[in-house]
Amino acid sequence: MIGVFDSGIGGLTLLHELMHTLPHEDFIYFADTENVPYSYKTPEQIKGFVEEAVLYLREQGCKAIVLACNTATNVAVEYLRSKYDFPIVAIQPAVKVAFDNNKENKRILACATPVTLKADRFENLINSLDINHLVDRLPLPKLVEFAEREQFESPDVLGYLKEEFAKFDIDQHRYIVLGCTHFTYFEDLIEENFPNLIAVDGNKGTARHLKNVLAKANLLSDSGTGTVRFVESKIESQNPERFWRYLNRLKS
Ligand code: DGL
Repeated sequence: MIGVFDSGIGGLTLLHELMHTLPHEDFIYFADTENVPYSYKTPEQIKGFVEEAVLYLREQGCKAIVLACNTATNVAVEYLRSKYDFPIVAIQPAVKVAFDNNKENKRILACATPVTLKADRFENLINSLDINHLVDRLPLPKLVEFAEREQFESPDVLGYLKEEFAKFDIDQHRYIVLGCTHFTYFEDLIEENFPNLIAVDGNKGTARHLKNVLAKANLLSDSGTGTVRFVESKIESQNPERFWRYLNRLKS
């Protein structure tokens, strides 16, 4: 069994990819419904929430944990990896994917939660690629709230995006990094309404990475059937249909 963690329903966008890449695994999806959104919490609070969730998933028998939450990765993954020795695979904003594809040398719009954009880990990522001069940072915390309310195509969402993107000369950008798993639900809306933008996220790369990590540790299963248990802040979800609604929205 593999434990997949997010503050809310954002990590389902990664779970969807994991189910496709690893069809013979079973999953527990942990949404920290009680504390979502993390955007307005302190890094110390978030670290505590994530550690509790990870320990819960281990107690449930998960052989590996996936942080399907960029915010959690950016404040907690080094701490968790130094303390525990089980595999922890973590998503991070796909700035490198944008950089590798950016043949025309256009500006890159990195969107994430304010916590992620302020984290040293994120800065280090940008610096390691030496692209500080090319990257604009845009926090979009309200997208998390829209997604949690299942508001995907309302005029309010588009209005919010237009207002936020107007802070930049958007014609100068080609790649937009969806550096929060909640943002992936808005990929089509963004590409349709801002046709010069191409959206990238870290879901495919993280799924591939998890497969390699499991293979190397001899932990790949061939007997799982792709079952998913949904847990909300350590309590079995009373409303799994809600999670399936989100999963079913995603392109196969
Ligand atoms: N889905 C999370 C991420 O990838 C964070 C959402 C939130 O709780 O603000 O960053």
